[in-house]
Amino acid sequence: MEMITLAMAKGRIANEAISLLENAGILFSDFEDKSRKLIFLDDNRSIKLIFVKAVDVPTYVELGAADIGVIGKDIMLEDPKDVYELMDLGIGKCKLSVAGFPDKNLIDRSQLTVASKYPNLAKEYFNQKGIRTKMIKLNGSVELAPLISLADCIVDIVETGATLKENGLVVLETITAVSARLIVNKASFAMKTECIQNFISDVKRGLEVYS
Ligand code: PRP
Repeated sequence: MEMITLAMAKGRIANEAISLLENAGILFSDFEDKSRKLIFLDDNRSIKLIFVKAVDVPTYVELGAADIGVIGKDIMLEDPKDVYELMDLGIGKCKLSVAGFPDKNLIDRSQLTVASKYPNLAKEYFNQKGIRTKMIKLNGSVELAPLISLADCIVDIVETGATLKENGLVVLETITAVSARLIVNKASFAMKTECIQNFISDVKRGLEVYS
């Protein structure tokens, strides 16, 4: 049988996605969250699960190194790729938000310095509001930026809100809700249609049990 390569990032979304697949009867018995191993086969040896950095998932899928990917909508919005986005998995739910110190007037200023992992999204959001921005691209620990006066505010995903709270920051505005999506390489969808359709049917069944 043809094998499908599935790319995702270790962490919150992967743990939820693997539970979802288990509910669909796709088992990765040797998967361990803490393992440093990067490739796992499902028990039926029909799916090869590869772990890559979250921002790289769409690249692997676009280039055909993976047939399918599970990735947050935030990453697809920031850097769109030429792939099919087939399904909202309804997992990894969070909100892309503007956050900063609890200063209600902050985001009414005409110019802001904004730190974010999502500079394109952030710039577009403030442009639409007529606010000029100096964007600072960071790759993590974004909440630090306002605390050390590197930026006036941040644009980042908020899930539980714990990171903001523990750093004395609050959500100032919500830009959009995001969740994990199933993306598919265009050529794979044409060449491995049956396999991929079967996988999608399994995932849909898993979703019904999961929710
Ligand atoms: C993400 C995000 C926030 C945090 C939000 O960071 O960038 O920092 O999670 O989650 P919370 O609302 O549940 O606290 P991640 O854990 O990916 O780490 P990073 O800052 O190193 O990117």
